[in-house]
Amino acid sequence: MHHALTRALAAGMLALAAGGASAADKIKVGFMLPYSGTYAALGAAIENGFKLYVAEQGGKLGGREIEYFKVDDESNPAKASENANRLIKRDQVDVLIGTVHSGVAMALAKAAKGSDTTLIVTNAGADAITGPMCGPGIFRTSFSNWQPGYAMGPVAAAKGHKTAVTITWKYAAGEEQIGGFREGFEKAGGKVVKELTLPFPNVEFQSLLTEIAALKPDMVFAFFAGGGAVKFVQDYHASGLQKSIPLYGTGFLTDGTLPAQGEAAQGLLTTLHYADGLDTPRDNAFRADYRKAYNMQPDVYAVQGYDAAQLMQVGLQAVQGDIANKTAFRDAMRGATIDSPRGKFTLSPSGNPVQDLYLRQVAGQENKVVDVAVRQLADPARGCKL
Ligand code: BEZ
Repeated sequence: MHHALTRALAAGMLALAAGGASAADKIKVGFMLPYSGTYAALGAAIENGFKLYVAEQGGKLGGREIEYFKVDDESNPAKASENANRLIKRDQVDVLIGTVHSGVAMALAKAAKGSDTTLIVTNAGADAITGPMCGPGIFRTSFSNWQPGYAMGPVAAAKGHKTAVTITWKYAAGEEQIGGFREGFEKAGGKVVKELTLPFPNVEFQSLLTEIAALKPDMVFAFFAGGGAVKFVQDYHASGLQKSIPLYGTGFLTDGTLPAQGEAAQGLLTTLHYADGLDTPRDNAFRADYRKAYNMQPDVYAVQGYDAAQLMQVGLQAVQGDIANKTAFRDAMRGATIDSPRGKFTLSPSGNPVQDLYLRQVAGQENKVVDVAVRQLADPARGCKL
């Protein structure tokens, strides 16, 4: 037998005998994402983005090959602990990647903390995750719900709107994005006169649209995403309200949804940490690669998945692939500057991106960047003791 191969085998056996992983072992990444339901397209985009970055690195992060495990969380908080434990206990993953729905993500974060498994949140904005639930192994490459909501407040006030009605699903993401908007809008002199909600993921909007027509606010601010956002934007347009009561929202209302929304979405203004038309070399390269790999335009969810892999790469390079060196792996990630397609971002001590929030306007099939609504916005991380 070849000497080098003999040595490698011996080293591997020694490592195994010592109960440790050898460099030849793959790093186990567990995707806990919605692959069905109203957020199914969001889960797919996150996985696509993550795998694109890994492919760009020749299939390895920190010199180690990656093995994937997957669970469809169905955006169902009732099944979240059980689903998280499939990846943690059954598959024994090194890193958890997920998820989209804030309620599911809070259960996932609890399970990750309880087992000291590193978690990178790739969408769910639940403020608590980088607030009271923050921890050394908890990271986010997306946003806190507060961030995109808050960013629209001063923009709407500057347009002369004095009163707003809000509408959303009644769960953490909706309540917290509305909470961020209310804080930003009222600080700038506006007033939220009514908060309308319906249960997630219902799309029976008619009676609420009738209520908006009766309330006659200056504007409406909404959070919906995925399939529900498609239906809401179509229903708002069909109601004819847009002419007298303009609709605004966080960018989830129109991200990844424009082909289905068509005419109904044209002209809508939203705030988000990504936009079309940024026209930077970094974003242009990412978009070209994504289109080539998947034959479609990337969206904010794809960027968040891509950046989770970038963040892991920073951590793994710092420990030369030795993910068992948890403290150094995590410290390197917390100190990272990520060269994201959205623009460079750092992580706050609580593990949440400090990032530019863009004002975007729908034109054709794009959420075209109009301006930076708030530069380098950090989540207040209320309740985080890190
Ligand atoms: C959330 O549940 O946190 C969420 C879901 C979809 C888009 C944005 C946020």
